[in-house]
Amino acid sequence: MELRDFLQQEDFIVKCQWGISFMNAKLQMINAELGMRCGRKVIHSYSSRIKSYESIAAKLKKKGQEESVAAMEEHVNDLAGVRAVCTYTDDLYRIGEMLCAQPDMRLLKKKDYIRNPKKSGYRSLHLIFQVPVSVQEDARWMKIEVQLRTGAMDYWAGLDYQLQYKKENRGAKNISRELKAYANAIEQIDSKVLELRKRIEAI
Ligand code: GTP
Ligand code: MG
Repeated sequence: MELRDFLQQEDFIVKCQWGISFMNAKLQMINAELGMRCGRKVIHSYSSRIKSYESIAAKLKKKGQEESVAAMEEHVNDLAGVRAVCTYTDDLYRIGEMLCAQPDMRLLKKKDYIRNPKKSGYRSLHLIFQVPVSVQEDARWMKIEVQLRTGAMDYWAGLDYQLQYKKENRGAKNISRELKAYANAIEQIDSKVLELRKRIEAI
Protein backbone atom coordinates (compact mmCIF):
# COMPACT_ATOMS: atom_id res chain seq x y z
CA MET A 1 0.00 0.00 0.00
CA GLU A 2 1.17 3.53 -0.76
CA LEU A 3 2.44 5.44 2.28
CA ARG A 4 -0.06 8.26 1.78
CA ASP A 5 -3.02 5.83 1.76
CA PHE A 6 -1.66 3.91 4.75
CA LEU A 7 -1.50 7.10 6.84
CA GLN A 8 -5.14 7.88 6.09
CA GLN A 9 -6.45 4.54 7.32
CA GLU A 10 -8.69 4.87 10.32
CA ASP A 11 -7.11 2.08 12.33
CA PHE A 12 -3.66 3.58 11.84
CA ILE A 13 -4.88 6.95 13.12
CA VAL A 14 -6.65 5.30 16.07
CA LYS A 15 -3.44 3.45 16.90
CA CYS A 16 -1.46 6.70 16.95
CA GLN A 17 -4.10 8.38 19.10
CA TRP A 18 -4.00 5.41 21.47
CA GLY A 19 -0.23 5.77 21.86
CA ILE A 20 -0.55 9.51 22.43
CA SER A 21 -3.31 9.05 25.03
CA PHE A 22 -1.25 6.38 26.79
CA MET A 23 1.75 8.72 27.03
CA ASN A 24 -0.36 11.72 28.05
CA ALA A 25 -1.89 9.65 30.85
CA LYS A 26 1.60 8.68 32.06
CA LEU A 27 2.71 12.32 32.01
CA GLN A 28 -0.39 13.47 33.87
CA MET A 29 0.07 10.89 36.60
CA ILE A 30 3.75 11.71 36.94
CA ASN A 31 2.81 15.38 37.11
CA ALA A 32 0.35 14.67 39.93
CA GLU A 33 2.89 12.62 41.87
CA LEU A 34 5.73 15.11 41.43
CA GLY A 35 3.41 18.02 42.19
CA MET A 36 2.54 16.39 45.50
CA ARG A 37 6.16 15.67 46.30
CA CYS A 38 7.59 19.06 45.27
CA GLY A 39 4.67 21.25 46.27
CA ARG A 40 4.53 23.04 42.93
CA LYS A 41 3.04 22.59 39.51
CA VAL A 42 5.60 20.72 37.45
CA ILE A 43 4.24 20.37 33.91
CA HIS A 44 2.72 23.56 32.57
CA SER A 45 1.51 22.46 29.18
CA TYR A 46 1.09 19.39 27.02
CA SER A 47 0.80 19.07 23.29
CA SER A 48 0.83 16.23 20.83
CA ARG A 49 0.68 15.60 17.13
CA ILE A 50 0.70 12.90 14.50
CA LYS A 51 3.35 13.59 11.86
CA SER A 52 1.96 14.63 8.49
CA TYR A 53 2.54 12.69 5.27
CA GLU A 54 4.63 15.59 3.93
CA SER A 55 6.98 15.60 6.95
CA ILE A 56 7.35 11.82 6.89
CA ALA A 57 8.15 11.83 3.18
CA ALA A 58 10.67 14.66 3.67
CA LYS A 59 12.35 12.84 6.55
CA LEU A 60 12.65 9.57 4.60
CA LYS A 61 14.14 11.47 1.70
CA LYS A 62 16.63 13.21 4.00
CA LYS A 63 17.65 9.83 5.41
CA GLY A 64 18.10 8.41 1.92
CA GLN A 65 15.26 5.91 2.38
CA GLU A 66 12.52 4.95 -0.05
CA GLU A 67 9.01 6.22 0.62
CA SER A 68 7.28 3.13 1.99
CA VAL A 69 5.39 1.92 5.05
CA ALA A 70 8.23 -0.43 6.00
CA ALA A 71 10.85 2.34 5.74
CA MET A 72 8.66 4.62 7.84
CA GLU A 73 8.24 1.98 10.54
CA GLU A 74 11.96 1.42 10.70
CA HIS A 75 13.33 4.94 10.30
CA VAL A 76 10.76 7.40 11.62
CA ASN A 77 10.65 7.51 15.42
CA ASP A 78 8.44 10.52 15.85
CA LEU A 79 5.35 9.48 13.94
CA ALA A 80 3.47 10.14 17.14
CA GLY A 81 4.88 12.82 19.40
CA VAL A 82 4.07 14.26 22.79
CA ARG A 83 5.60 17.36 24.35
CA ALA A 84 5.55 18.51 27.96
CA VAL A 85 6.76 21.94 29.03
CA CYS A 86 8.05 22.64 32.55
CA THR A 87 9.60 25.58 34.36
CA TYR A 88 12.80 23.98 35.64
CA THR A 89 15.47 21.86 33.95
CA ASP A 90 15.85 19.44 36.87
CA ASP A 91 12.15 18.55 36.60
CA LEU A 92 12.69 17.47 33.00
CA TYR A 93 15.19 14.86 34.14
CA ARG A 94 12.92 13.77 37.02
CA ILE A 95 10.08 13.22 34.58
CA GLY A 96 12.42 11.40 32.19
CA GLU A 97 13.54 9.03 34.95
CA MET A 98 9.98 8.37 36.06
CA LEU A 99 8.93 7.60 32.50
CA CYS A 100 11.84 5.18 32.15
CA ALA A 101 10.81 3.45 35.38
CA GLN A 102 7.30 2.63 34.07
CA PRO A 103 7.01 -1.14 33.85
CA ASP A 104 4.60 -1.19 30.93
CA MET A 105 6.66 0.65 28.32
CA ARG A 106 10.25 0.56 27.20
CA LEU A 107 12.84 3.16 26.33
CA LEU A 108 14.31 2.75 22.85
CA LYS A 109 16.45 5.85 22.58
CA LYS A 110 17.43 8.92 24.56
CA LYS A 111 18.73 12.13 22.99
CA ASP A 112 19.85 14.66 25.55
CA TYR A 113 19.98 17.93 23.66
CA ILE A 114 20.14 19.78 26.98
CA ARG A 115 23.58 18.53 27.98
CA ASN A 116 24.51 18.29 24.29
CA PRO A 117 22.65 21.05 22.45
CA LYS A 118 22.33 20.84 18.68
CA LYS A 119 24.54 23.03 16.54
CA SER A 120 21.53 25.29 15.97
CA GLY A 121 21.28 25.91 19.72
CA TYR A 122 18.23 23.65 20.07
CA ARG A 123 17.78 22.19 23.55
CA SER A 124 15.27 19.60 24.81
CA LEU A 125 15.30 16.11 26.24
CA HIS A 126 14.02 13.59 23.69
CA LEU A 127 12.97 10.09 24.69
CA ILE A 128 11.69 7.51 22.25
CA PHE A 129 9.55 4.84 23.89
CA GLN A 130 7.71 1.79 22.74
CA VAL A 131 4.21 1.72 24.16
CA PRO A 132 1.60 -1.04 23.97
CA VAL A 133 -1.43 -0.42 21.78
CA SER A 134 -4.21 -2.86 21.06
CA VAL A 135 -6.54 -1.75 18.33
CA GLN A 136 -9.12 -4.25 17.08
CA GLU A 137 -7.65 -7.06 19.18
CA ASP A 138 -4.31 -6.56 17.51
CA ALA A 139 -1.88 -6.01 20.40
CA ARG A 140 1.30 -4.34 19.23
CA TRP A 141 3.97 -1.92 20.25
CA MET A 142 4.37 1.48 18.74
CA LYS A 143 7.09 4.11 18.92
CA ILE A 144 6.36 7.48 20.41
CA GLU A 145 8.64 10.46 20.87
CA VAL A 146 8.47 12.49 24.09
CA GLN A 147 10.01 15.96 24.08
CA LEU A 148 10.63 17.49 27.50
CA ARG A 149 11.50 21.20 27.61
CA THR A 150 11.47 24.25 29.82
CA GLY A 151 9.30 27.19 28.84
CA ALA A 152 12.46 29.01 27.78
CA MET A 153 13.58 26.14 25.54
CA ASP A 154 10.10 25.98 24.06
CA TYR A 155 10.13 29.70 23.36
CA TRP A 156 13.46 29.36 21.56
CA ALA A 157 12.37 26.29 19.55
CA GLY A 158 9.24 28.17 18.48
CA LEU A 159 11.29 31.15 17.35
CA ASP A 160 13.75 28.94 15.50
CA TYR A 161 10.93 26.99 13.87
CA GLN A 162 9.25 30.19 12.73
CA LEU A 163 12.40 31.90 11.52
CA GLN A 164 14.57 29.20 10.06
CA TYR A 165 14.10 25.48 10.89
CA LYS A 166 13.17 23.52 7.75
CA LYS A 167 13.25 26.75 5.76
CA GLU A 168 15.39 27.63 2.81
CA ASN A 169 17.24 30.32 4.72
CA ARG A 170 18.49 27.66 7.17
CA GLY A 171 22.16 28.10 7.61
CA ALA A 172 22.24 31.77 6.57
CA LYS A 173 25.20 32.69 8.75
CA ASN A 174 24.03 35.87 10.43
CA ILE A 175 20.56 34.48 11.22
CA SER A 176 21.99 31.26 12.66
CA ARG A 177 24.54 33.17 14.70
CA GLU A 178 21.96 35.51 16.16
CA LEU A 179 19.57 32.69 17.04
CA LYS A 180 22.43 30.74 18.60
CA ALA A 181 23.28 33.74 20.77
CA TYR A 182 19.66 33.88 21.97
CA ALA A 183 19.82 30.14 22.72
CA ASN A 184 22.85 30.77 24.92
CA ALA A 185 21.13 33.64 26.71
CA ILE A 186 18.09 31.46 27.32
CA GLU A 187 20.26 28.66 28.67
CA GLN A 188 21.77 31.06 31.20
CA ILE A 189 18.35 32.20 32.33
CA ASP A 190 17.24 28.57 32.77
CA SER A 191 20.20 27.82 35.00
CA LYS A 192 19.87 31.05 37.01
CA VAL A 193 16.18 30.45 37.60
CA LEU A 194 16.94 26.94 38.81
CA GLU A 195 19.60 28.28 41.19
CA LEU A 196 17.13 30.86 42.48
CA ARG A 197 14.51 28.20 43.15
CA LYS A 198 17.07 26.10 45.03
CA ARG A 199 18.10 29.11 47.11
CA ILE A 200 14.49 29.80 48.00
CA GLU A 201 13.92 26.14 48.87
CA ALA A 202 16.92 26.22 51.19
CA ILE A 203 15.58 29.17 53.24
P1 GTP B 1 14.33 15.76 12.29
O1 GTP B 1 14.32 15.33 10.86
O2 GTP B 1 14.84 17.16 12.44
O3 GTP B 1 12.99 15.55 12.95
O4 GTP B 1 15.44 14.88 13.03
P2 GTP B 1 15.39 13.48 13.77
O5 GTP B 1 14.04 12.89 13.77
O6 GTP B 1 16.53 12.67 13.29
O7 GTP B 1 15.57 13.76 15.28
P3 GTP B 1 15.97 15.04 16.06
O8 GTP B 1 16.20 14.53 17.42
O9 GTP B 1 17.05 15.79 15.38
O10 GTP B 1 14.71 15.98 16.03
C1 GTP B 1 13.44 15.59 16.38
C2 GTP B 1 12.56 16.78 16.62
O11 GTP B 1 13.20 17.73 17.47
C3 GTP B 1 12.20 17.61 15.41
O12 GTP B 1 11.11 17.07 14.70
C4 GTP B 1 11.85 18.97 16.03
O13 GTP B 1 10.58 18.92 16.67
C5 GTP B 1 12.88 19.06 17.11
N1 GTP B 1 14.13 19.72 16.67
C6 GTP B 1 15.31 19.12 16.42
N2 GTP B 1 16.25 20.02 16.05
C7 GTP B 1 15.64 21.22 16.07
C8 GTP B 1 16.10 22.57 15.78
O14 GTP B 1 17.25 22.84 15.42
N3 GTP B 1 15.16 23.56 15.89
C9 GTP B 1 13.87 23.31 16.29
N4 GTP B 1 13.02 24.34 16.36
N5 GTP B 1 13.43 22.07 16.56
C10 GTP B 1 14.29 21.05 16.45
MG1 MG C 1 10.89 15.64 13.74
